[in-house]
Amino acid sequence: MDQAKIGRFIAKLRKQQKLTQCEFAEILGISNKTVSKWECGNGMPELSLMMPICDILKINLNELFSGEKLTDADYKKKAEENIMKLIEEAEKIKKNIVGGKDLGKVANIDMDVSEAHKTNIEFWNTIGSEFLGVTALPKWGGYLPSEEKLNLLGDLSDKRVLEIGCGNGHSLKYVADLGATDLWGLDISANQIERTENYLRTQGISARLICSPMEDECGLPIDYFDLIYSVYGIGWTTNLDKTFKRIYSYLKKDGVFVFGWSHPIHKCVSVEGGKLVFSNSYFNEEWYCADMSDKEIMLSNRMLSTYINSLARNGFVVEELIEETDKEKAMASDNDFGRKALMLPTAFAIKARKL
Ligand SMILES: C[S@@+](CC[C@H](N)C(=O)[O-])C[C@H]1O[C@@H](n2cnc3c(N)ncnc32)[C@H](O)[C@@H]1O
Repeated sequence: MDQAKIGRFIAKLRKQQKLTQCEFAEILGISNKTVSKWECGNGMPELSLMMPICDILKINLNELFSGEKLTDADYKKKAEENIMKLIEEAEKIKKNIVGGKDLGKVANIDMDVSEAHKTNIEFWNTIGSEFLGVTALPKWGGYLPSEEKLNLLGDLSDKRVLEIGCGNGHSLKYVADLGATDLWGLDISANQIERTENYLRTQGISARLICSPMEDECGLPIDYFDLIYSVYGIGWTTNLDKTFKRIYSYLKKDGVFVFGWSHPIHKCVSVEGGKLVFSNSYFNEEWYCADMSDKEIMLSNRMLSTYINSLARNGFVVEELIEETDKEKAMASDNDFGRKALMLPTAFAIKARKL
């Protein structure tokens, strides 16, 4: 579907009906931001809104999908073209899962680095942190046993430490409490950096904070850190190899890199009517765009082998791969996420070293 053309068509007809975006949105029972998004060519109305939109704009569905008024002569040809396009789009649509949330259907996209950064920065600058809840140490992710049980970080006394995707700064406080003295944080979102700064200030902790995508050159020192870690940060990179190569360069010899992320198998299985259903291919590493509370995120699911092979390619030796469930925690939970965690890993953590 030509979303830009359809968006312009909706805007033109809405104005002909003398409706503002707010009035149009109100009739449809949605936010004006959603109307603005369609009209800018970013996304299509959901199925249940299509007929009401056609009624208000006095067009038929075929005209909506074509983004133009049709004559009787054009009608059949356009209808067939539109059916083919709809089938193609339906094939591109997959289910997906972020954290404990099943996102339902999401659309696969061709990833553009600056577009992905722009979209994800907007998400993290606004509702991101509230949406995902607390994703900081001692948690490594999902229902993985916590750092207190796993002890992946080792002795942190007087250590130089960097967090990738430092978010709200709670993990930096955790490593400071364990004795790390030289603290650094990196995050793509200026808002998250500010949150870290404010939180650490209230805790009387100082850290050097850098606002940059992890995959880019950002002035971090080379051969410097004893430990680099990340909790639900690494998977946001648009380029895993570039990121691991940089992380390797920032570490001292014998330095340790530990990160936790959503387990790729968790993203393939949804809970439907109490049953676990394989709803996405494990092999699907395509980028997708998903709506999260009126904002969008761009991500891809990577196979476990993709992480391991990229670490190896960039010089790391993997010391531990954790894909366990804290059974007590999962059994105590009263939700699908917890029930699922009893059957498969919802997150993984990897400890790797620069030799
Ligand atoms: C799930 S949060 C984890 C935050 C942290 N563990 C916490 O609990 O506060 C992911 C973080 O990664 C950051 N992020 C996303 N894409 C990034 C990128 N390409 N480079 C650096 N940071 C990124 C986000 O801004 C966000 O703060």
